[in-house]
Amino acid sequence: MKIVAIVGSIRKDSLNRKLAEHVKNRYQDKFEMEILTLNELPMYNQDIENDPPEAVRTFKNKVKEADAVLWVTPEYNATIPGVLANAIDWLSRVDKVMIGKPSWIMGASMGQLGTVKAQAVLRTVLFAMGLSSPLLPGNEVYVGAAHEKFDASGRLIHEPTITFLDGVVDNFIAWYRKYHG
Ligand code: FNR
Repeated sequence: MKIVAIVGSIRKDSLNRKLAEHVKNRYQDKFEMEILTLNELPMYNQDIENDPPEAVRTFKNKVKEADAVLWVTPEYNATIPGVLANAIDWLSRVDKVMIGKPSWIMGASMGQLGTVKAQAVLRTVLFAMGLSSPLLPGNEVYVGAAHEKFDASGRLIHEPTITFLDGVVDNFIAWYRKYHG
């Protein structure tokens, strides 16, 4: 199975990217994962959606060719960051590469609630017309106080989170095989 992880933060020390890297590395015997960055994506503009810049084409193609998408989102002001909303706008138009594409969600924040509000927004967006991505039910991953759960080298060191993620990944794979494999 080939998964792309879309990380909604473009800062170099992103906790959400570290979370995606943990998933990529720990479960490399279960699936192949490529972590996509949103750094190169221009702002969505309907005027150019039919002939978008190369960065947009590359991004959309990677999502199109993947079996599934893992969204790893920060929370900005109780919603998803603008860079992630922008990426979703590109994905939702013209060839609509998210339609029918299974996906699942994780998020890390410095607050205790671990992106609970952002993920609620993201779920609503992904259910919206024009996207319709089947989402892994349950298995909600809210990594709160995330700055305390990674070491200086960026490794996830919080054992309860590591164990919880093991279960979520198994559930994701079982769900994927049953309904989409
Ligand atoms: C935040 N942060 C934040 N955290 C949270 O739990 N709820 C929130 O609403 C917000 N809002 C917010 C807005 C803006 C503009 C910034 C820059 C930050 C803090 C956020 O959780 C923290 O910066 C994370 O580290 C962001 O994720 P990355 O970049 O580390 O992946």
